[in-house]
Amino acid sequence: MRFIPYGRQSVDESDIEAVVEVLRSDFLTTGPTVAAFEEAVADYCGARYAVGVCNGTAALHIASLALLKAGEKVLTTPNTFLATANAIFYAGAKPVFVDIGEDGNIDLDLCEKRLEQDPSIEALYAVHFSGNPVDQKKLARLKERFGITILEDCAHSIGALRDGVKAGSCTHSDASIFSFHPVKQMTTGEGGMVTTNDEALYEKLRILRNHGMVKTSAMKPWEYEMRTLGFNYRITDIQCALGLSQLKKLDRFVARRRELAKRYDEFFADHPLIRPLYPFSEHASYHLYVVLIDFEKAACDREALFVEMRERGIGLQLHYMPVNRQPYYRNLGYGDESIPVMEAYYGHCVSLPLFPALSDEEQAYVVRSLEEILYG
Ligand SMILES: Cc1ncc(COP(=O)(O)O)c(C=O)c1O
Repeated sequence: MRFIPYGRQSVDESDIEAVVEVLRSDFLTTGPTVAAFEEAVADYCGARYAVGVCNGTAALHIASLALLKAGEKVLTTPNTFLATANAIFYAGAKPVFVDIGEDGNIDLDLCEKRLEQDPSIEALYAVHFSGNPVDQKKLARLKERFGITILEDCAHSIGALRDGVKAGSCTHSDASIFSFHPVKQMTTGEGGMVTTNDEALYEKLRILRNHGMVKTSAMKPWEYEMRTLGFNYRITDIQCALGLSQLKKLDRFVARRRELAKRYDEFFADHPLIRPLYPFSEHASYHLYVVLIDFEKAACDREALFVEMRERGIGLQLHYMPVNRQPYYRNLGYGDESIPVMEAYYGHCVSLPLFPALSDEEQAYVVRSLEEILYG
């Protein structure tokens, strides 16, 4: 049996052909395929504008520069990849870590309390963890009540829906970001996108992506003005060709992820040692399938479980170590926040293999192996 990783891309001949077609064309970068991919992602999410960039971190970087001011306080989650919180620092702003709820997402009720207590908090960065978006009604209330800036980190959640709101539509936020890393629901190799409904923000993002440069004259193609300090965060036409081809299959990929997640849930229904992080949701797009394992009752600890599963050809992962406890953050005075739910979660969470090409037999093998090892 082949090695079963926790996540992997699904690339087929039609993807390869789409990439080859661009390789044979006039534009490898800054060409028509970039614009076509941006338009397709904006349409898919129901957002007005989209700006493609070279990865999700670059998307977070330029969005943060456009949305935040130095010194501002930004509520965010400890249960995320480093990039979400790091981007707040990139803009000279300050992350404020709030505990998570039982579903692994930032606790928006706690956010509301923090906003009541501290009117100097200006923004919220919410991550739709594992592909299960945060409560959109609560997000709308925070936006309306406190007038804060909201960014949705949709790196895990393309294809997801919550309260009738599609991830990335920015219905109750200023901007959303995506990552198209190979473990995500669809891939461009590396790649990212910012979506927004705000035209002025869109223009800023486009300039930040490309050295802060603006072309000033159609008649003089050599002329440009640098209006701000930007970057080369462009995504190539080659990547966007793959993205466009993948986007056509995204709903199918997500449907298979949901099917596998539902079956995992059925395997673990009333299980004495293993519990799904949240009950199956037909609206989540399942980048990750996370379980909580009762290691106190199991025959082994998490480290041994990872080693023994790997020996059986199965890759597990852990999402995430609390960001605020990282050495860099500790050096800046973070790390002692009260986050009891995150701590309990971190002690028990394990991400199981989940990707469209995972077969039913492989999934059953993962479950069987997990049980055999946990029971000793
Ligand atoms: C929640 C979250 N935000 C941002 C990123 C950054 O995306 P990228 O790896 O494309 O830079 C990731 C990547 O895994 C992520 O999981």
